[in-house]
Amino acid sequence: MNHNVKNICCIGAGYVGGPTMTMMASKCPHISFKVVDINQERIESWNDENLLKLPIFEPGLKELVAKTRNKNLFFSTNVKEAIEISDIIFISVNTPTKKRGLGAGKSSDLKWVEACAREVGKFSKGHTIVVEKSTLPVRTAEVIQKILNSEASDAKNEKSFRVLSNPEFLAEGTAINDLENPDRVLIGGEDKSAMRLLSQIYENWVPKEKILLTNIWSSELAKLTSNAFLAQRISSINSISAICEATGADIREVSRAIGKDSRIGSKFLDSGPGFGGSCFKKDILNLVYLAEYFGLKEVAKFWEEVVNINNWHQKRIAKIVVQKLFGTISEKKIIILGFAFKANTNDTRESAAIKICKDLLEEGAELVIHDPKVNPLQIEIDLKVKQFSDIKNESIDYPKNNLGNWKFSKNLNIFDNAHAVLVLTEWEDYKNIKWDHVAKKMKKPAWVFDARSIVNEDLIKKSGMNMWSLGDGSSKNDIRDF
Ligand code: UDX
Ligand code: ADP
Repeated sequence: MNHNVKNICCIGAGYVGGPTMTMMASKCPHISFKVVDINQERIESWNDENLLKLPIFEPGLKELVAKTRNKNLFFSTNVKEAIEISDIIFISVNTPTKKRGLGAGKSSDLKWVEACAREVGKFSKGHTIVVEKSTLPVRTAEVIQKILNSEASDAKNEKSFRVLSNPEFLAEGTAINDLENPDRVLIGGEDKSAMRLLSQIYENWVPKEKILLTNIWSSELAKLTSNAFLAQRISSINSISAICEATGADIREVSRAIGKDSRIGSKFLDSGPGFGGSCFKKDILNLVYLAEYFGLKEVAKFWEEVVNINNWHQKRIAKIVVQKLFGTISEKKIIILGFAFKANTNDTRESAAIKICKDLLEEGAELVIHDPKVNPLQIEIDLKVKQFSDIKNESIDYPKNNLGNWKFSKNLNIFDNAHAVLVLTEWEDYKNIKWDHVAKKMKKPAWVFDARSIVNEDLIKKSGMNMWSLGDGSSKNDIRDF
């Protein structure tokens, strides 16, 4: 086997592949990295000369791309060429939940992974290490290995493959730091020399004791389990937020108190509008599918409830907005602050904002949506409702279709005549809003609904508005009607 890795490629230039290869290129200047994708527009954005159109917003990414691009990092649509010359190939393509057929709604659709494996099998030369990087169901490595082996036997043993699992643990918004200082790097496989080779790449910047070598199934299952545990914490704290509201407790105080227990720890205890992102729901559903497949009904039910609570919680927030606004929001202007699934990303996949906004539109609301990084075209795709250009232009009649409308605003000059503000993403911009100015512009009684606990309640109360803060039961009776 060639122990001198010169070329690495990554198939899939998305939220995982792009930042991961950029970090590797910056830490391994002696290796050439190619990130390839079938989506030409995406590759053109990565190659944008002035780095203004990178397809992903991620703090610190632009600077790192500027340092490495066209030196030892290249973005291209030439998948075949990249595969041919590479010693190691990362697979980092999309693996959404299946919509139809066996396992629909639960297991991941491996269509894109399979297509990649076939291409690698066809175009690779000599000995190649194939690394699964996307989040995948347990035993996918076996599927990849089988496809590759069938290609290798057709090629009369002129090529050989080793498949490794090397799951990604980066979180969006903090991806660069997570990649640079990972808690651990997990490498699962059977072939010790292939595992050592991949480990040596990471050792260029990751301390060796943080690199864990496991068998391939443990590595795949550890990734699903990590995400399931993290998501479970959020569903747990969100379920307690509802109890806080009912009893007069305050979820922030409860979180702080339990987080001081070193066995529990303080991270991932912020109650919010429900977890989003491309991984949590998909990974839990994969776990549920796996458990069902092996006849472990109780295990499946346990994990499915984490997703059920998340759905219920998002519905609950939309319901509270309607109830507080006298049971109807038809034609009422509601400001939505934040559409991304968390701050510091332009990603909206599975964002709580999608479900909550859909429910509010269903009730006939007129939404004005602000987000510093999300593209309004993406919101249109997510809501499946076209943007309406003239919301609250008092001179026009609204279409009476019992469905509300929405429009996007790039700035925060949007509060005129609004009945309510709903904070859904914890962007820094929203922490410094001058609420006393806002209060003067809004219709009375004005409401601020804070699903992220970032708004200063005292300022809202001082400015004469009503406030609902998620999980804060202490102010439940303190409602001003003017
Ligand atoms: C997650 C995992 O953290 C990461 O290790 C894995 O590789 C991919 O999935 P990501 O989805 O990018 O990362 O973001 P994360 O920070 O985990 O947040 C997920 C969701 O949980 C967001 O909607 C976030 O707002 C929410 N969240 C997180 C809370 O509601 N409360 C918290 O305390 C933490
Ligand atoms: P992730 O969050 O896992 O990175 P993304 O959806 O952001 O997922 O990115 C996956 C990328 O993989 C997309 O840009 C898609 O075009 C690309 N892709 C899917 N299948 C293939 C393939 N067979 N060859 C090359 N690229 C692919």
